[in-house]
Amino acid sequence: MLAGLSATPKSLSSKYFYDDEGSRLFQRIMKLPEYYLTGCENEIFAEQADDIYRSFANDGGGFDLIELGAGDGTKTAVLIDHFLKRHADISYSPIDISQEALDELTAKFKAEFPSLKMNALNGDYFKILDSLRYVGGRRKVLLFLGSNIGNFNREQSVDFFRQLRAVMNDNDLLFVGFDLQKDPHVIVAAYDDLQGVTAKFNLNLLTRINRELGGHFDPEKFIHYANYRPIEGSARSFLISREEQTVRIDALSREFHFAQWEPIFMEISQKYSLSFIAWLAEESGFSIDQNFFDGRRYYCDSLWSVNSGRR
Ligand code: AVI
Repeated sequence: MLAGLSATPKSLSSKYFYDDEGSRLFQRIMKLPEYYLTGCENEIFAEQADDIYRSFANDGGGFDLIELGAGDGTKTAVLIDHFLKRHADISYSPIDISQEALDELTAKFKAEFPSLKMNALNGDYFKILDSLRYVGGRRKVLLFLGSNIGNFNREQSVDFFRQLRAVMNDNDLLFVGFDLQKDPHVIVAAYDDLQGVTAKFNLNLLTRINRELGGHFDPEKFIHYANYRPIEGSARSFLISREEQTVRIDALSREFHFAQWEPIFMEISQKYSLSFIAWLAEESGFSIDQNFFDGRRYYCDSLWSVNSGRR
């Protein structure tokens, strides 16, 4: 917070969006008519579950699904339902930083899939994956869905995938959701919805700073603004100060000055070309096994295997 708010331009990391209220707001975003990403991934899972199953279990063997940033697990439920109907020998371990989201997911899945072996884990992805590395001894399929990768810039994405690669065994797979480049109007609408839920989602971080760090932000004094840059393929969101103001954050023993209309850069949501996805896989030590698309080709779930020999 100190580094971001002291920099020019000011920024706050979107990884802090997900306190319990932020997670609830994100669940609402996923149901918005403008936020097409969730519907596209659901369509892929609902219509291609059989192909997905075959590529996860290419030897017909069991596998352990590990979902990074599982949220409420709605999308994954479609896949799990299909796998269980095929009597697949699977387990499911959702990992998330929101304990509340994990508790809800566990309750829902236990009711829906009483036979599913489940182990919800709260904390840091890499530490947890490292601790699971030699557990079970069978294939792990890591799920990183919802285009969550889009909230990282290029360097952070490569770094993230390389770190995953380093804790994966040679037979493991990585299944990643990527939102593809498309009509910019469709993209901008997804990050600037009519009901203002995305605005609340961004402003919630100011409320979180107030609560957890003794901040004195008045969220009413900021507006949410989203844009899309087609050359870079990135949607960005900002909070813009409506007026000149100074805000104290007690835990940082600092005051931060905002000029009128000064932006805080909040979030990047990268949109991908297929060549960029191929580059990311290659650069971080993976090969693309198969890409799964929705009917409009708005979205792609890409299945990667480990390039053995590289670590
Ligand atoms: C979690 N992540 C992929 C979402 C996205 O599309 O970048 C977060 C989000 N931000 C605004 N709306 C949704």
